[in-house]
Amino acid sequence: NAMLQWQRTGFHFQPHKNWMNDPNGPVYYKGWYHLFYQYNPDGAIWGNKIAWGHAVSRDLIHWRHLPLAMVPDQWYDTNGVWTGSATTLPDGRLAMLYTGSTNASVQVQCLAVPADDADPLLTNWTKYEGNPVLYPPPGIGPKDFRDPTTAWFDPSDGTWRIVIGSKDDAEGDHAGIAVVYRTRDFVRFELLPGRLHRVAGTGMWECIDFYPVATRGKASGNGVDMSDAFGKNGAVVGDVVHVMKASMDDDRHDYYALGRYDAAANAWTPLDAEKDVGIGLRYDWGKFYASKTFYDPAKRRRVLWGWVGETDSERADVSKGWASLQGIPRTVLLDTKTGSNLLQWPVEEAETLRTNSTDLSGITIDYGSVFPLNLRRATQLDIEAEFELDRRAVMSLNEADVGYNCSTSGGADARGALGPFGLLVLADKHLHEQTAVYFYVAKGLDGTLTTHFCQDESRSSSANDIVKRVVGSAVPVLEDETTLSLRVLVDHSIVESFAQGGRSTATSRVYPTEAIYANAGVFLFNNATAARVTAKKLVVHEMDSSYNHDYMVTDI
Ligand code: FRU
Repeated sequence: NAMLQWQRTGFHFQPHKNWMNDPNGPVYYKGWYHLFYQYNPDGAIWGNKIAWGHAVSRDLIHWRHLPLAMVPDQWYDTNGVWTGSATTLPDGRLAMLYTGSTNASVQVQCLAVPADDADPLLTNWTKYEGNPVLYPPPGIGPKDFRDPTTAWFDPSDGTWRIVIGSKDDAEGDHAGIAVVYRTRDFVRFELLPGRLHRVAGTGMWECIDFYPVATRGKASGNGVDMSDAFGKNGAVVGDVVHVMKASMDDDRHDYYALGRYDAAANAWTPLDAEKDVGIGLRYDWGKFYASKTFYDPAKRRRVLWGWVGETDSERADVSKGWASLQGIPRTVLLDTKTGSNLLQWPVEEAETLRTNSTDLSGITIDYGSVFPLNLRRATQLDIEAEFELDRRAVMSLNEADVGYNCSTSGGADARGALGPFGLLVLADKHLHEQTAVYFYVAKGLDGTLTTHFCQDESRSSSANDIVKRVVGSAVPVLEDETTLSLRVLVDHSIVESFAQGGRSTATSRVYPTEAIYANAGVFLFNNATAARVTAKKLVVHEMDSSYNHDYMVTDI
């Protein structure tokens, strides 16, 4: 029975079967959260009949699966109803823009609206009879023009604007680009001159997202709706910065940067040119792509969805009958303490699944040791941890491991002075299989500490048809922060980790063969050679499943 495979998750979103990719058109409508997604009704691999799957939820955690919202049934989307975004109009109605792949495989933009505005479940959709509403403009390749953003209202000229991603090799520099259109009616569009942004060397930009985050005061604890980021004069208000995110088709990561948006000039400029889109920050250092945010008016927050694909073989996907998950929905805020990165955190509703909490706070682990946690079950967990390195040991070191790099410095068993230390999850009792989530602190001669946050998949499974990497990056730690924190969501075949309050995240798909069911465990480990580590906080929550088991099993 395919539905009873251990790899299926308990609280991450996934369809009953078949292939899923990008989240599409997330929106809150009449009391329901809607998630649409790229879906292949014909099998567990991507294909040219991609349709829009659809599910609804009251809380972003418990989902009810609905019939397909749109299928490829028109000449302009017969090769796929591709990624798109929802816009909520001032009167509450919705406009859905998506990319159609035409009968000639040209990428065009199309409009769809709910067939019945009064249906809170938005079960049926009507494609506009005049579709497509946008063709690739001159200079843009017919296969490089896709994934329209949510529109925002620009008060300076009373138009709606959208961004679409592409690439531009005109100057021979393999640039990724973002272009802006304006429209009054979502039917007739005008290309604005210039480019909202362009970064050489980054290639095709898929699934652009563009939104403000508040920089100060109480407002910085909430999300900001794009259309609310303008003053009466049409200029962008002073207390926001705009996030630009693009999914890089070249290296399959979601990159973002913080910048200033000048609407009149149709230009967005990164705050830090060295951290521009595609060369600096990533949403997640593991498997996480084609993500998209939406503004949730019910809780005044911005919520991020991201596609978490498989890292096993296509053959394995076909035999298990399904592929892909969505990451746990994450709230997104500016990190006002650093001012230079976002904070991502699982939506608070995820905590309603916590049950059987075990508090192990205060354990000290000597260097070179591994400590098993005594837990009942360990395949569905939400772990909260805060570590403190023995301060004297840190002080007494001159220099240690400068130049450390998560992905190239050897993983969780390569020992340094001040790391690695952290958690081993989905680990069997012999530690044949384990996924390590850890910190590794380096110390420069001038005394500065650099903290790396890494996730090591290399021993996550003894199966060999799997891509296993060590992922991660340096994470900012401020001088007044004495502990290093981790939040780790474990859900059968996904490990989704948030470091230092969500400054950095890493998501891994893992496929243990032994560390499953009751054989899965969690260990604390400290492979540093020079410092003890205290887990000042260590609370492990079992997580309930968010779906109705009977429904899942009888549905096949
Ligand atoms: C990103 C993407 C989008 C496209 C969709 C097709 O994963 O390639 O650019 O619209 O998937 O399924």
